[in-house]
Amino acid sequence: MPTQLFDLKDRIALVTGASRGIGEATARLLAEQGAHVVLSSRKQADLDAVAASIIAGGGKASAIAAHQGDSEALARLVTEIDQRFGRLDILVNNAAANPYFGHISDTPMGMVDKTLQVNVKGYFELAALASKLMQRNGEGAIVNIASINGVTPGPMQGIYSITKAAVINMTKAFARECAPWGIRVNAVLPGLTDTKFASALTTNQEMLDHFLPSIPLGRVAQPNEIAPAVLYLVSDAASYVTGTTLTVDGGFLS
Ligand SMILES: NC(=O)c1ccc[n+]([C@@H]2O[C@H](COP(=O)([O-])OP(=O)(O)OC[C@H]3O[C@@H](n4cnc5c(N)ncnc54)[C@H](OP(=O)(O)O)[C@@H]3O)[C@@H](O)[C@H]2O)c1
Repeated sequence: MPTQLFDLKDRIALVTGASRGIGEATARLLAEQGAHVVLSSRKQADLDAVAASIIAGGGKASAIAAHQGDSEALARLVTEIDQRFGRLDILVNNAAANPYFGHISDTPMGMVDKTLQVNVKGYFELAALASKLMQRNGEGAIVNIASINGVTPGPMQGIYSITKAAVINMTKAFARECAPWGIRVNAVLPGLTDTKFASALTTNQEMLDHFLPSIPLGRVAQPNEIAPAVLYLVSDAASYVTGTTLTVDGGFLS
C-alpha cells in the first residue's frame, strides 16, 4: 500500500508569492497532493492564470491578491480564507523583497524599511494571523521560506540577508509558542535558485563563475527542487518536526 504520509487531501493551504518561481512550484506540488491551494501575490491576473492551470490539471485552487507588506491586505486575505473555507491548515510564507544590491553601508534607508516590511513584518503578521485560525482546529503547519543568506550573508545583499536571519529566528519563536496549539513551524533555506528573483545572478556568467565553484553540486537549483522540502515539512511525514531549518542548497553551506 502506498504511503499516505504526504497526502494533503481536504487541507487548505495558503502560499504567498505563488504566481511564479518557488511559490508557484510549491503551490502546484501541494495541489498535486490533494490540498486546496490559495495562491497569493500582488498581481491578480498572474495568480488567476496559475490557478486556472492547476484546476485544468484536476487540482483545487483559488487566487486572492495581497501585498505582503500591507497589513490591511494580509488581514483581508486571512479573513476571506476564514469566510470561504472556515479553516486554514497550511501557510507557506514565501513572497519576499530584495530591492537593493550594493555595499551594506550605502543602503538607502527606504530600502531598509521596504525589505524589513515585506520580509520580516509581512511574514510575522501572516504567521500570527494564520496561527490564530489554525488554533481553532488544534493543528496546522507553517513553513517560512528563508535563505542560505540568513546563515551566511550574501555579498552585497546585506539587508536582505539580515531579514532572512530574522525569519530563521522568527520560525523558532513561533514554533515554541504555537506548539501547544498543535501547530508546527519550520523554515526552508533555498540556495541559489533559477527564478526571476535571482536572475541578476543566474543570467550573469561572471556571477555564475563566482558562485558555482562554492556549490558542491555545481549548479543552481530549479524551483521544483525546493518545493518537495516544503511538502515534507507541511505533511504528516514531519509530524514530530518543528522549529527547524531544512537547507536545500546543493551543499553550499556544508
Ligand atoms: N531564487 C533564489 O535564488 C532564492 C534563494 C533563497 C531564497 N529565496 C526565497 O524564495 C522566495 C521566493 O523567491 P523566488 O526566487 O521564487 O522569486 P520569484 O520567482 O521572483 O517570485 C516571487 C513571488 O513573490 C511575489 N511577490 C513579490 N513581492 C511581493 C509582495 N510585496 N507581496 C506579495 N507578493 C510578492 C511575486 O509576484 P508579484 O510580483 O506579482 O507580487 C512572485 O509570485 C523568497 O522568499 C526568496 O527570498 C530565493
